Amino acid sequence: MGPIGIFDSGYGGLTVLRQIRHLMPQYDYLYLGDNARAPYGTRSFEVVYQFTLQAVRRLFELGCPLVILACNTASAKALRNIQQRDLPQIDPSRRVLGVIRPTAECVGDITHTRHIGIMATPGTIRSQTYDIEIQKLHPDIHVTGQACPLWVPLIENMEHLSPGADYFVRKYIDQLLQRDPEIDTIILGCTHYPLLLEKIRRHTPTGIRLISQGPYVARSLQDYLSRHPDMAERLSQNGVSNFLTTEQPQAFAESTATFLGETVEAHNITL
Ligand code: DGL
Repeated sequence: MGPIGIFDSGYGGLTVLRQIRHLMPQYDYLYLGDNARAPYGTRSFEVVYQFTLQAVRRLFELGCPLVILACNTASAKALRNIQQRDLPQIDPSRRVLGVIRPTAECVGDITHTRHIGIMATPGTIRSQTYDIEIQKLHPDIHVTGQACPLWVPLIENMEHLSPGADYFVRKYIDQLLQRDPEIDTIILGCTHYPLLLEKIRRHTPTGIRLISQGPYVARSLQDYLSRHPDMAERLSQNGVSNFLTTEQPQAFAESTATFLGETVEAHNITL
């Protein structure tokens, strides 16, 4: 038995962990943030895949039967290879799940115009994973992707509440809505973006629905565990969370207040 592993390039996955813990506080969680190498959003496919695979292997070594890639960039660029190529060799009984599928599933019930926007890192947009997943599930939905290269750096540098951030928030929203004025639903396809939600809301016309993925990922995981009792039985249940970072633990601990809503102690790890 072991904890649920939660992986992100940095702090963003903490917004997902927060929602998962809220829904299922009974489980143990082991969070790993690769802060020393974040952000991943502008890195190549191969590099994101190698970094993510290293993190998944380490979380398996530390006893996690199940790992959630709480990062859209890693889900877009590494999940399929890890599931299909690596997992059968490493340990076919373990599981790795991402955040894109659960988010893609929910939009069908939300959009009325059937025109949606995806705001995400350049890597996620370039991979077209959202377009592909949404086409599979809802072929009638028209998807427009908007890369937002400066949003993660603003958040990682704690500038997301500064007046300067408004310029870049408005810029990408305006670009998206110019490309498709019929959009009535926008997916915030990066686990960092809930931190910018207030500003994003301020610069988005009323009537457009914004989707933060944390609650949908949490519900999807709960549903997955109810359909896979064999996996649920392998997860330890002491309500304990531990935090690992590839950077200095002090900086990580300070940022957890912002992303997780509480300050926690973190430990350094090398991948
Ligand atoms: N939080 C990651 C995501 O959801 C992106 C951060 C990064 O660029 O590393 O895509």
